[in-house]
Amino acid sequence: MKKIVVFSGQANPALAGNICKSLKVAPGNINSMRFSDGEVRVEVGENVRGKDVFVIQPTCPPVNENLMELLVMLDALRRASASRITAVMPYFGYARQDRKDQPRVPITAKLVANILTSAGADRILTLDLHAGQIQGFFDIPLDHLYAINAFVAYFKRIKMNDLVVVSPDVGGIKMARSYAKRFHAGLAIVDKRRNSPESIDVMHILGEVKGKNVIMVDDIIATGSSIVEAAKALKRAGAKKIFAAITHGILSGNAVSKVNKSEIDSLVITDSIPLVKDKRSKKIKVISVGSLFAEAIKRIHFEKSISVLFDGIGR
Ligand code: R5P
Repeated sequence: MKKIVVFSGQANPALAGNICKSLKVAPGNINSMRFSDGEVRVEVGENVRGKDVFVIQPTCPPVNENLMELLVMLDALRRASASRITAVMPYFGYARQDRKDQPRVPITAKLVANILTSAGADRILTLDLHAGQIQGFFDIPLDHLYAINAFVAYFKRIKMNDLVVVSPDVGGIKMARSYAKRFHAGLAIVDKRRNSPESIDVMHILGEVKGKNVIMVDDIIATGSSIVEAAKALKRAGAKKIFAAITHGILSGNAVSKVNKSEIDSLVITDSIPLVKDKRSKKIKVISVGSLFAEAIKRIHFEKSISVLFDGIGR
């Protein structure tokens, strides 16, 4: 492990600390400062020549600040002659705009892929991308991890029966199907229409939820509207307890208060994005993906396959 150096930006130092602990390496020395006008300035505080460098930085809120800090760190490390730089992005932001679904809109997922590569990333390591096809926006290797094993372990400890896995939208069917398979549970889908980023309408529920305990699975909770509205409809359709397992807890605006007042019994998220103090709630549980990332980093460094980490996922 002598040649590994793991640096963290300011987005999620707690997760970076867990990863370093699992890897038994000290966090790399990097100083991130701001000029008086807010421009990002970083200084790498140790020699990285010939080193296998990993930079941990989810591009969660403040999204632009965290993305820019990552880009500046990559540039500094490349100019400091690191032999390989992996951008470790536990949450890959700007992913929701991944196609031209209306005239005159950008494809920001591709734009971000381009700028990460230009800044100096040689590889990407990420988790539960909003759409798997985003992998193809990169012309550098990308390793895509899944949080499913961590969620399955959590829910198996709770021991639930009469289970149905629900996707809160049609786009999430593939993800929900993998979970249903792992839980040996039924599958249902909520047909939702998004009127604006904050407002959605539930049109139909496809599948049987009456008398069942529900686990809703999704990649992102942002405003919370999708799962809160879905939970209302699921209750009306006769669901018993409602749990949500969502990889990336963006929880913007009043999402936490919406979840607190909702029909959802418990929301489980990962630590891909830090849950800041004022967003903590009895209903929200956080599970760690630190050891998953540490294992993936180790395997990338030693050039071992990382597909064993996906065993049983069945995608
Ligand atoms: C949509 O395609 C995503 O998978 C999530 O369902 C969505 O981003 C959640 O957003 P919100 O919490 O704002 O409804």
